[in-house]
Amino acid sequence: MSFLEINGGRKLYGTVSVQGAKNAVLPMMAAALLNQGVTVIQNVPNILDVIHMIHIMEGLGCKISYENEILTLDASCLNTNELPSIWAGKMRCSIILLGALIGRCKDAVAYYPGGCSIGTRPIDLHIEGLKKMGVAFTFEGEKIRAKVDKLIGTEILLPFPSVGATENILLAAVKAHGTTCIRGAAREPEIVELCQMLNTMGGHIEGAGSDTILVYGVAELHDCSMKVSGDRIVAATYLMAAAACGGEIMVTEAPCNYMNTSLAVLEQMGCKIRKEERQVEIHSDGNLCPVPYIRTEPYPGFPTDVQSQLMAALCFSKGRSVIEETIFEDRFHTALELKKMGADIIIEGRRALIYADQRLCGADVEANDLRGGAALVIAGLAATGRTRITSCQHIFRGYARIDTDIQQLGANIVKKVDETEENRAGI
Ligand code: EPZ
Repeated sequence: MSFLEINGGRKLYGTVSVQGAKNAVLPMMAAALLNQGVTVIQNVPNILDVIHMIHIMEGLGCKISYENEILTLDASCLNTNELPSIWAGKMRCSIILLGALIGRCKDAVAYYPGGCSIGTRPIDLHIEGLKKMGVAFTFEGEKIRAKVDKLIGTEILLPFPSVGATENILLAAVKAHGTTCIRGAAREPEIVELCQMLNTMGGHIEGAGSDTILVYGVAELHDCSMKVSGDRIVAATYLMAAAACGGEIMVTEAPCNYMNTSLAVLEQMGCKIRKEERQVEIHSDGNLCPVPYIRTEPYPGFPTDVQSQLMAALCFSKGRSVIEETIFEDRFHTALELKKMGADIIIEGRRALIYADQRLCGADVEANDLRGGAALVIAGLAATGRTRITSCQHIFRGYARIDTDIQQLGANIVKKVDETEENRAGI
């Protein structure tokens, strides 16, 4: 098994370019299923979630090539409409293929994606939305069969702006008969990018980025080539690292206009921020101010995907901060690992109370989810001494090169393979 070894305490200086956005590229890959031709997606990050999605789509019969961060997907012929069950549990977001499969085949089989370490992550809103369009579901254990003669456009009200549910409904509605109005839709930038791609493919979607999206069904979609924007969460992660360590870095290819709440929090912590359209510079003297209260919210609120990283950075402030996690019910696991480094964090329901005095010591810690793992990297970089982060495959699900990116900013961070007998035996 691989692990990350960090010798912390160094300030960060230099320039780093962020990868393409994981949470934009995955639904865009699903959209390629709706085109019985070739779809090209550029700036695709080399991350485990993309590799796993490639395997799933190849299992459906797509012919896929991936070189130099360019993904070419030929979905002319599919040889099955059943998602491979082994992937459902491994990769939650395989469920966003359901809407596209239904839109393509009118008959699809998927599997309950199961929960993960940040919550139960149900899919009831996905199911209810698709039912409104005429889809009939049967459930056999974990297997979900979805069938429809004709997808009919309709009005769908989402009680919560679920990103995945909005994506699944969009992918089913784009070629439905008639118009679909999604009220209470997610407003995330990833929804905007998906709709831009679907419109480039010949779709007719209006209102992306607002809470009301209109989808005028079209008969066919055609080939297209799209470039994924920079990953706002990866960019925020690197900025949080610079805030905690101190120093001055420039993050390029960052979608700054989609990062306002993360940048505002960094300024509240005492960092100097200078942003242009696609790059942001941060200066931190390492003496961070606490944040009396902040809560995660659906976009454009403070992103839940930056919550763990903020918690880690706030451990290097001086005073009490409170973070409320309103999106996922179990997204404070990182606190347990940060405590091994000397952090003083109390979890009270949906709130984390961080009592910080700027010092953490390196320790052996374990990543148990993607953003929690990235938070441990931040803590290891700013702590004094050596930190080893095991189970770092979680981190590489969403960060293509977090080790080498941060190395080039002057940090001592190396990805290593544990050669002990136990691990060689794959125990
Ligand atoms: C997407 O997950 C992202 N993943 C998540 O990023 C992100 O945290 C989340 O949106 C919120 O922004 C991808 O895009 C691949 P939701 P998703 O549906 O679609 C509840 C990362 O670190 N809910 O908006 O699963 C759900 O339990 C990942 O990159 C229902 O109750 O998020 C949760 O509490 C983590 N029923 C809340 O809504 C449903 O049918 C948000 O879920 C669906 C969701």
